[in-house]
Amino acid sequence: MHEDIAQVLFTEDEIAKRVDEIGAAITGDYAEVAGNRGLVMISVLRGAAIFMADLARAVRLPVEMDYMAISSYGDGSKSSGVVRVLKDISTDIAGRHVIIAEDILDTGLTLKYLLRYLASRNPASLEVATFLRKRTSDQAEIACKYIGFECPDEFIVGYGLDYAERYRNLPYVGVLKADVYR
Ligand code: PRP
Repeated sequence: MHEDIAQVLFTEDEIAKRVDEIGAAITGDYAEVAGNRGLVMISVLRGAAIFMADLARAVRLPVEMDYMAISSYGDGSKSSGVVRVLKDISTDIAGRHVIIAEDILDTGLTLKYLLRYLASRNPASLEVATFLRKRTSDQAEIACKYIGFECPDEFIVGYGLDYAERYRNLPYVGVLKADVYR
């Protein structure tokens, strides 16, 4: 375990197993509607790229992958819900089955914005797969069809989640020691 991690919440094996389960669920849910073109998975850089890379490989249907980059005006640790698109998807999603792959649902403001933004392009369907959902009292109501794990409202890193761009490549999810960010 990394010296900056106080506690491991989800191990590499647990994550792999859960991602496989979600992939199997998606495969089953979309098998009939996917057709030759399959699904479009969209993730928001940067953290969610790791989850989407694993999830796409766990789905036994054709999956196109695309990426967005957004900047959120907040205090740096919490998003404000005011979002600017820095990089848009290049896929035409009209009439397509779309799944947004997110690494974490915290306030929910990012997903609230994204769902509205992508729905305006008339996909055939639009769902959310989030690797983690934080247990917070003030989370926006987001309908997530697929959830990896519920997690406590702590400073967590790994499997895509960073602190100051570090720890994203930890293969597990852990709680960061408080003396690292204080
Ligand atoms: C994180 C995460 C989600 C968002 C969730 O991104 O990837 O997109 O915050 O927070 P919310 O539910 O409170 O809106 P971040 O802005 O940290 O960017 P990153 O993926 O580059 O780390």
